Amino acid sequence: MLEVLRSGSWGATQGRLVEQLAARLAGVHGARHGLCLANGTLALAVGLRALGVRPGDEVIVPAYTFIATATAAILMGAIPVFADIDPATLLIDPGSVESLVTSRTRAIVPVHLAGCPADMSRLVDLARRHGVPILEDAAQAHAARCDGRAVGAIGDLGAFSFQTSKNLSAGEGGALVTNDEELFVRAWSLHNVGRVPGGEWYQHEGVGWNLRLTEFQAAVLLPQLDLLPELIQRRERAAAYLARRIAAEVEGAVPASRPPWATTHAWHLFVLRYDASAFGGRSRDDAVRALAAEGIPCDEGYVSLDAIPALAAEIASQSTGRTPAAPCPASRAAADGAVMWIRQQVLLGDEEDLEDVVRALVKIQRGGGVT
Ligand SMILES: Cc1ncc(COP(=O)(O)O)c(C=O)c1O
Repeated sequence: MLEVLRSGSWGATQGRLVEQLAARLAGVHGARHGLCLANGTLALAVGLRALGVRPGDEVIVPAYTFIATATAAILMGAIPVFADIDPATLLIDPGSVESLVTSRTRAIVPVHLAGCPADMSRLVDLARRHGVPILEDAAQAHAARCDGRAVGAIGDLGAFSFQTSKNLSAGEGGALVTNDEELFVRAWSLHNVGRVPGGEWYQHEGVGWNLRLTEFQAAVLLPQLDLLPELIQRRERAAAYLARRIAAEVEGAVPASRPPWATTHAWHLFVLRYDASAFGGRSRDDAVRALAAEGIPCDEGYVSLDAIPALAAEIASQSTGRTPAAPCPASRAAADGAVMWIRQQVLLGDEEDLEDVVRALVKIQRGGGVT
C-alpha cells in the first residue's frame, strides 16, 4: 500500500498491480484472461454486455441469490428471469432453467452460491443445446472447483466480487475471467471507456465506462491470493468439523447438501437447513436473532428475488409481456425460514470457536437465548 502511495501511480491505467492481479486471478481460475473491475455487480453487467446482451433480452438467473445477479441484467436493459433452486443444495436447478429458455434468452447466469459450484456439466450441456452463453456468478466462490476444474472459465465468462464480506476482499472490487480472447477484449473496452488495448488515450472504438479497479485495491488483494490455498483448506477442515459436531449434537439443523461435483467448496457461507419443529416451533428469524445474541455471525439470508416488488415492477416495465415466469417454491421456502447462514469468517476460527457455534445451537434448541 505504501509503495503504491509513494509511487504516485494510483490508477489502473498507470500502475502495474491491477494487471498483475488480473493475471494471477486468471491463473488461479484456469483462464487465459483476467480483468479487474470496480465491483462484482459491474463485472456481471460488463460480462453480459460482452456476451451481446441488449435491452429487452432475457437473462436466466436463480431466484435465490444476491439481488445484484438480477440487477446487473437490469443495468443492461435486459430482463431477469428467475429459475428455482434445488432445495437440498440451494443451487440453481438446471431443470427449471431449461423450462424457461425462449428464443429471447441471451444468457444464463448460474450462481456458485455460498462458494459451492453449481451443476456446471448439466448447465453447459443445456446452454450448448440452446446456443446460449453462460456467465458464471462466482462472486462467492473464489478458487472453488467443479469436478476438479476451477470455476469462472467453465462457462464463457466468470464474475467475481471483492466486496467486504467476500473470502477475498478489498472493501470493494470485482473481476472477470475468460478463455475467450474476443470476449476479453470486448470486456476490457467496456470497462475502459471504449478504448482498445494498445490504442490511443482518446481513441474510443466503442461505448464504455470507467469501471476500473485502483492500484490500492490490487495491493490489498495480491497478498491474499498467496494465502488463498491455505485459507481454502482451513475453511474446508472447519466446515467438515462443524458439520460432524452439529450432526452429533443438534437435531433439525442440517448443512446444505454438498453435491458430488463440488470438489473444492469455497465456503463463503455455511448454510444450515433449519427445521423449526425440532426447535420447539421457534421461527428461523427468531433462532437467528438468538444465535447472533450468542455472538455467532449468522444471517436469515436472502429474500427470494421473485418476491421483491421493486424488481417485479422494473421487470414489468421492461418486459414485452411474453417474459416467462414460473413459481420458485424452493427459493421461497429457503427465504421464508428453511435455511440460515453462518458466515465464512467463523470457518477461519479454531475448534473452540466452532464449538461456540455448536453450544449456541444446543442452547437455542433447549429454548434458551433471547427471543
Ligand atoms: C452472488 C453475488 N453476486 C453478485 C454480487 C455483487 O458483488 P458486488 O457487491 O461486488 O457488486 C455479490 C456480492 O455482493 C454476490 O454475493
